Amino acid sequence: MKNNTAEPPGTMIEMIKVSKLYPPDVVALKDVSISVAVGEMFFIIGMSGAGKTTLLKLISSMEAPTNGLIEISGNPIHQLKGFKLARLRQKIGVAYQDFKLLADRTTAENIAISMEVSYKKPSIIRRRVKDLLAQLNLTDKHNTITSELSRGEQQRVTLARAIANSPTMILVDEPTGNLDATTTEKVMQLLTKCNKSGATIVIATHDDSIYRHTLHRVMELRAGRTHAIVGGNGT
Ligand SMILES: Nc1ncnc2c1ncn2[C@@H]1O[C@H](COP(=O)(O)OP(=O)(O)OP(=O)(O)O)[C@@H](O)[C@H]1O
Ligand SMILES: [Mg+2]
Repeated sequence: MKNNTAEPPGTMIEMIKVSKLYPPDVVALKDVSISVAVGEMFFIIGMSGAGKTTLLKLISSMEAPTNGLIEISGNPIHQLKGFKLARLRQKIGVAYQDFKLLADRTTAENIAISMEVSYKKPSIIRRRVKDLLAQLNLTDKHNTITSELSRGEQQRVTLARAIANSPTMILVDEPTGNLDATTTEKVMQLLTKCNKSGATIVIATHDDSIYRHTLHRVMELRAGRTHAIVGGNGT
């Protein structure tokens, strides 16, 4: 992504006094300002309803802020349109809290989708899908229709689809909510690997097992406001 404004180089996400109001009167986010560096892993925590998913939706441009500015790599995303917006979105992989899998397609087809839109060769796609399934303990689910998977399996397919195309930025919403400790560890290993290869990662979570000992920054939201940002030696 190009850095073509006064943005200091190396900033992936810049949010300045961002608020999101859902009519008539839900204040989902209020005056949130954060700056996430290129290559950083950044956790967003907070109780149910604190605004974590809303924040990710604003970063991925699924929703527009009511007030404030959001820049991704120096681009004010909510002013981008057409080809420029599509190109930026292609560099963002999102693992949704509610999965959004195609229920009548197989695991492999769901993961392949994000690579097909960028015209990757079928042989490359097949290899990448197999590799991701192996890393997530899902090899035997390659040809299973995703509506027949357990929630924890669907959650991992969602993650695999988000990272398959090696996006510059990965947004993951509650990636381990349905997983046991061992599988949680596998998911975090995979995300850490993506981060080590350069991806900026933002993780929204309730699961303190994945951020308790982290050296990365952790931001706590309370009722839509930034309560605290701690840590920061891990980038
Ligand atoms: N589309 C919407 N319309 C109206 N209100 C909404 C909408 N989406 C979210 N909200 C409200 O905004 C607030 C923040 O919701 P959000 O989904 O961001 O919370 P969260 O921190 O992700 O919660 P959880 O941990 O349960 O996923 C909540 O009060 C929620 O009810
Ligand atoms: Mg949420």
